[in-house]
Amino acid sequence: MSEVFDAYAGNYADEVQASIDFAGLPHDFYLRVKALLLAEVVQQRLGIGGALSCLDVGCGVGALHPHIAPLFDHLAGVDVSVASIAEASRRRPAGVYRSYDGTRLPFEDDTFDVALTVCVMHHVPPGAWGTFVDEMRRVVRPGGLVAVIEHNPFNPLTRFAVSRCAFDADAVLLPARRAANLFVASGLTRVAVRHFLLLPSMARAARLLEALVAGMPLGAQYMAFCMKSGSGDDLRRSNRSP
Ligand SMILES: C[S@@+](CC[C@H](N)C(=O)[O-])C[C@H]1O[C@@H](n2cnc3c(N)ncnc32)[C@H](O)[C@@H]1O
Repeated sequence: MSEVFDAYAGNYADEVQASIDFAGLPHDFYLRVKALLLAEVVQQRLGIGGALSCLDVGCGVGALHPHIAPLFDHLAGVDVSVASIAEASRRRPAGVYRSYDGTRLPFEDDTFDVALTVCVMHHVPPGAWGTFVDEMRRVVRPGGLVAVIEHNPFNPLTRFAVSRCAFDADAVLLPARRAANLFVASGLTRVAVRHFLLLPSMARAARLLEALVAGMPLGAQYMAFCMKSGSGDDLRRSNRSP
């Protein structure tokens, strides 16, 4: 898997754009909508204020990071693609970026307030999905948030985009219900799912309407999220830095 994405470290955004061009929207639009949703969920689940840390698992070249870095005091990224991690570090020298072998995340238990993974699990073999989620849970502190953003397999336009994407040849799409079941199996709690990327507009009315129907599997992608229970309450912050 590392070699696949190593080959796209220099032109990742162009490849994504080529696969979604038919929808007439720039890649940046999708990144901004993801960042807005993450901000809302982080605020709802962890509150505002305080210094939050986040690990982005499978961060690639860090395309999302300019949009989500303002949400966090510490934003770290990890990926199996060595070349993608080098590119992410080049783009954001202040960030903590590490490559790893795709099994055990190179961070201690209970390190982050948030563990996020965006469009990665469909590249992970289904037999390894449980371990992947277990690792996200491990590195999040009790009371922290685990969030998975994935393609919605029930959206035909998503399937079309995946079929056109050069690096999606290995993709096995993960249904939202399966993601939620993986969370439960890992001992994570307060599981919720929000579908998004239904309307092609950043207008406030479009965002509100999309939020109203987020429970229905209509949007191109979804975010499944949950909490790591433990002795701390949801507002308690980790005092470790990544
Ligand atoms: C479609 S890209 C998404 C990159 C980034 N999350 C984004 O949204 O721009 C998928 C990424 O997942 C990485 N990946 C695949 N398997 C992985 C694993 N087991 N652990 C971490 N990263 C993995 C790939 O190297 C690649 O960078």
